[in-house]
Amino acid sequence: MKHESPREVAVYVSTYVTLAAGILLLPAFILFTGNWTAWLLYPISLVAIFFTSLLTFNYSIERFIHRKIRLIYKSIHRLKTRKEDEKQLDFSTDVLSNVNREVLSWAKDNQQQINSLKEQEEFRKEFIGNLSHELKTPIFTIQGYILTLLEGGLEDPQINREYLERADRNLDRLISLINELDEITRLESGQTRLNKTRFDIVELAEEVIDEVEYKAHVANISLKVRDPKKLINVEADKQKINQVLTNLLVNSIKYGKDRGTTRIKFYDLDENIMVEVEDDGVGITQEHLPRLFERFYRVDKSRARHQGGSGLGLAICKHILDAHEQSINVRSEEGVGSTFTFTLKKA
Ligand SMILES: Nc1ncnc2c1ncn2[C@@H]1O[C@H](COP(=O)(O)OP(=O)(O)OP(=O)(O)O)[C@@H](O)[C@H]1O
Ligand SMILES: [Mg+2]
Repeated sequence: MKHESPREVAVYVSTYVTLAAGILLLPAFILFTGNWTAWLLYPISLVAIFFTSLLTFNYSIERFIHRKIRLIYKSIHRLKTRKEDEKQLDFSTDVLSNVNREVLSWAKDNQQQINSLKEQEEFRKEFIGNLSHELKTPIFTIQGYILTLLEGGLEDPQINREYLERADRNLDRLISLINELDEITRLESGQTRLNKTRFDIVELAEEVIDEVEYKAHVANISLKVRDPKKLINVEADKQKINQVLTNLLVNSIKYGKDRGTTRIKFYDLDENIMVEVEDDGVGITQEHLPRLFERFYRVDKSRARHQGGSGLGLAICKHILDAHEQSINVRSEEGVGSTFTFTLKKA
């Protein structure tokens, strides 16, 4: 008696009831009937008992199960089961196993939701911790300079201008941090509208190289585009892709080695172009790679801080490419170098 439908259960029970009635009625018929017409009543009454109990049991079981299942559905779907939904229960099938399956899948979904909420909670805590830490550093530095100036430094021509300039530099850092965070938030919430145009990505790469050339020169790193004469048109937001390339190139300079080289290469994929920024710098160990595009994530905190980084550059790149429905990836080996690749739609 496993996994029967409610209807089958009603048939089973009615059969047992009919059998029991048959056995009980038999002595009565033997004792009180004398002719064959009365004997005919025996099977007729058994058939009547069978169908009456079948109807009764079927109705009671269906009602009982209906009520229970409605309660379960109400709890797991958190909504009122409407009359139309009730008709959908097919009592000739194994409704209880179906409900069991639905409850199990509901529990699994719920567990996934709980896990993702827990992850979000962790992420939120970490984010707020990082944010306050990043804000604290420049604010306290500015406060230090202002206090020194107020306590007499203002009259000291040796330091007054210098301290104001240092405070100003820290304010610049604070402002750029706020602007970067603001940009990520707008990209994430879909408020930023992309201004997509058709442009030559090779030409843009060369423009960006010109913009960061001075930094590269100071770090003694050369920046190169492979096949600079090629023309590759893509469709994207030029200003935003400029920002992606700038962030990647600046990183390759900041985390590069003396006399190193950064190369930008282009690969033709079916519908897309893959842009590769490859350096021969310090590289990144594998354990850091999965979290590299998260906000505030830095591999070597002291080195990155020394370079003035707050760990938002790659997060911005990722959000810009997400907004384009494209992807960004990284391969890297410590001491050998890093390669960042992203795709863009061909135009
Ligand atoms: N080309 C690279 N070579 C080695 N490490 C890198 C490279 N690019 C990024 N990283 C590592 O990844 C971390 C995150 O990079 P990201 O650009 O997001 O932040 P940042 O450069 O520290 O600060 P920001 O870009 O906000 O000024 C860096 O701190 C650095 O440790
Ligand atoms: Mg960076």
